[in-house]
Amino acid sequence: MIAVYPGSFDPVTCGHQDIIARAAGMFEGLTVLVAANSAKSPLFSADERVALLRESCAHLPNVGVEVLPPVLLVDYAAEHRAGVIVKGLRAVSDFEYEFQMALLNRRLRPQVETIFLMTAAEYSYLSSSIVKEIARFGGDIEGLVPPPVRRALAEKFGQQQS
Ligand code: PNS
Repeated sequence: MIAVYPGSFDPVTCGHQDIIARAAGMFEGLTVLVAANSAKSPLFSADERVALLRESCAHLPNVGVEVLPPVLLVDYAAEHRAGVIVKGLRAVSDFEYEFQMALLNRRLRPQVETIFLMTAAEYSYLSSSIVKEIARFGGDIEGLVPPPVRRALAEKFGQQQS
């Protein structure tokens, strides 16, 4: 079974990386899908986000990373013979939005199932937004993002790496 793991990944965090590694262990193949036309204005371009994900997942042979074109996620999944959408849940606050998307996606294509993996406890407070904020003000993000992301953030914000 092939699964897809969609998101903005602006940028990928250690929380995402943990979900990717665990999902990769459950499925034959996992395609991480970077939503290109997210409503949010991203810090990293879709190509930069893909490159950072590829570097961060290079040790996982059954994981691929692609840009999600401007189509419905369930249509992409069906076209690429993926039967499962993987999502990570950190807290109750994630639930309502994810529940809405999972139900709508099932209505659109009942044959594509959504499954949720609970975050690792140590990353439950982590988000791409908070990581960007810490990095913007020069805070230490070691252990919160994969090393290539730490370098890319330092570059974006014009900081020296310690
Ligand atoms: O990391 P995010 O921003 O929460 O990811 C949201 C994402 C990309 C998973 C969601 O916006 C999505 O699935 N977009 C693809 C278009 C689509 O199918 N929208 C309808 C969802 S019910």
